[in-house]
Amino acid sequence: MRYCFIIITLSILTLHGREAPAIIPRPVEMVQLEGYFSINQSTQIIYTPDCKQEADYLQKILAADTNPNLVSLSSTPVQSNFISLEINKALHMPEEGYLLIVTESNIHLQAATAHGIFNGIQTLRQLADSSGPLIPAVRITDYPRFPYRGMHLDVARHFFNADFIKKYIDLMAELKMNHFHWHLTDEQGWRLEIKKYPNLTQTGGFRKETLIGHSLDFPERYDGIPYGGFYTQQEIRDIVRYAKERHITIIPEIEMPGHSRAALAAYPDLGCTGGPYDVNTRWRRKPDVFCAGREFTFEFLENVLDEVMALFPGLYIHIGGDECLKERWQECEFCQNRIRTENLKDEHELQSYFITRIEKYLNSKGRHIIGWDEILEGGLAPNATVMSWRGFTGGITAAKSGHNVIMAPVEYTYFNTYQAQPEYEFLAFQGYLPLNKVYRYDPVPENLPSEYHHYIIGSQGNIWTEYIKNTDQLEYMLNPRLAAMAEVLWTPREMKNWQSFQNRLGSYLNHLDNKEIKYSSGSFKIDITTARDTIENRYYFLLNSEQPDPVIRFTTDGTVPTTSSQLYTSPVFLKNTTQVTAAHFQKGKIYRGVFQKTINLHVGMSATLKVFNFTDSTYNQSEDNVLIDGLYGEKKFDNDNWQIFENSDFSVHMDFATPTEISDMTINFAEYSMVWASFPEFVTVSISDDGENFHEIQKIMSDTIAPVDHIKTFSVTVNSQKIKALKIFAKNRVYKQPALSSLLVDEIFVK
Ligand code: ACM
Ligand code: ZN
Repeated sequence: MRYCFIIITLSILTLHGREAPAIIPRPVEMVQLEGYFSINQSTQIIYTPDCKQEADYLQKILAADTNPNLVSLSSTPVQSNFISLEINKALHMPEEGYLLIVTESNIHLQAATAHGIFNGIQTLRQLADSSGPLIPAVRITDYPRFPYRGMHLDVARHFFNADFIKKYIDLMAELKMNHFHWHLTDEQGWRLEIKKYPNLTQTGGFRKETLIGHSLDFPERYDGIPYGGFYTQQEIRDIVRYAKERHITIIPEIEMPGHSRAALAAYPDLGCTGGPYDVNTRWRRKPDVFCAGREFTFEFLENVLDEVMALFPGLYIHIGGDECLKERWQECEFCQNRIRTENLKDEHELQSYFITRIEKYLNSKGRHIIGWDEILEGGLAPNATVMSWRGFTGGITAAKSGHNVIMAPVEYTYFNTYQAQPEYEFLAFQGYLPLNKVYRYDPVPENLPSEYHHYIIGSQGNIWTEYIKNTDQLEYMLNPRLAAMAEVLWTPREMKNWQSFQNRLGSYLNHLDNKEIKYSSGSFKIDITTARDTIENRYYFLLNSEQPDPVIRFTTDGTVPTTSSQLYTSPVFLKNTTQVTAAHFQKGKIYRGVFQKTINLHVGMSATLKVFNFTDSTYNQSEDNVLIDGLYGEKKFDNDNWQIFENSDFSVHMDFATPTEISDMTINFAEYSMVWASFPEFVTVSISDDGENFHEIQKIMSDTIAPVDHIKTFSVTVNSQKIKALKIFAKNRVYKQPALSSLLVDEIFVK
């Protein structure tokens, strides 16, 4: 009967149109009940003794937000008007989960762990935030999808002080994130006080000056201003405690063997040549890295790691491992001697020796290592967790060999890339990652067999700070992408919904406004896409932006839209090749740029496309038919029209419903250093008039021009033959990064 009552109540609520409370990340299950709980001066918090810390935390945030006189009480029995926090170990709840019931007379929050209570408190805070002191009655059952939900921060390229780090941790905690990956050392600065080696911070913590502009700008210019800073061990302990109270584990990253120049500047005997070295002042790497042949390197690192372990009690220590240049090792007698005495094949195996030796040391102290995916090269250390940043491939390989994986692919998780159209943004690392792309990210690749899924323990957002000079800029890059990532990592995949997220986002942005935290208000970029009605074989174009209620006007004659141009309301029918020009309008004026694309209708668009070798399909940057959507990928930060093929050849099969006359075809490949894409070695095209027997009509050889970014068109003459099917194959080449090589492909244009 009670169940029925809830159903009836719900339908009444729907009739009255009460909006669902805006909770981010979206809870697993939320049932709205009738009425509100009102927090007032006599509301009391009661709690079981094992969650006193959480009760104190709740009291503090409610006092700050709503009610300064709220009292915390441990065991006084009260009849109503209370908020109870109860750890109930018998509760059947996944780790970190909670059950929150708000009625008109009280609020019950239960969990099996204090962490679960803390997560429930964050939901409660958002309920209060989105509706004031009146908290809507609800019953919420909630728990996370992934155990590892992280956020990274590089403090080596630019330094952010201890107070700001606490603010960062608070932002994470409010969204139920639970790991803070703190990148403390790199070529441009060593930021962690180590008592045994004071020069690390006194020398390695400061650089002479800093590059102005982008690392690809030429000629290089420097600002002439000394720059630096570091955290004392006292500050670190305070931050670790602060994070622990918020159920966030800090993972310190001490980079080795590469990205280590600041340490070399402090102690030149750590390098192969013995120095002298400066703390790097530009963003491009220099060749000097820790010497893998000298014993002093390992003695030093073990001593450093002893102090690191004393400061950071968490299980994981991140040892970096990425992008280690090998040229010094090739020339160093100590390193070459190590290769000989340890029977190693090459410098990749020397890197593996290095990482495995450090892993053994940390394992002997009860700790585990995390390393970037380069630690796979030359053989993976036996117990390592792999952080896969160069796409999904490294993570897939690691999972298949039984290692835990934290996914962090550049394309979806690097928040130092642009999140809106670059001409209106701060200078940033190249790459375009708007909010909706973070939102559609899934850390578990579709093609990873399900028996390996549990090795993907989660993912994280990453912020590298080469171009991020101050906290305003950092907050702007972080928010609201952090909120999208939090939902990706917490909410069940089937409950993710972009429209719903956008509806809830406003309330979160208000919260950031109240705390005077900066964020990007979304992109005013307009995505021009096409859709095919397969029944009628008709084509449409669509205009989308991240704005909640956009006013978009467009033309199809190449002119810039005006206030009298057609207002976009729904997909527009395409009769032939069309140039679409669109813009946002605010107060009768174009706001933030004009967007234009030519949609080239061609016969290939009517084919059925079969794409083989979809090894990393989740890495692909757009919808399935992007290869025959009439739109060319452009050489910009936005790659939504490209398809990527990581470590695999490109192979497609196009079938026409009836024999079709074709004169020629073109296909575009791109070289794009950010995703390790280079031109194929060759492209072949084969045709068939029966759909079964093919013969090759052309083979085109190609060079690579990397690392500069280019597009190249491969053209094939078919000579007006009537064909039933077409096969295109492109051979992937091994790029300079041995572990990753991709092909970036766009429109197969068929005339
Ligand atoms: C990285 O971005 N080098 C891990
Ligand atoms: Zn060496």
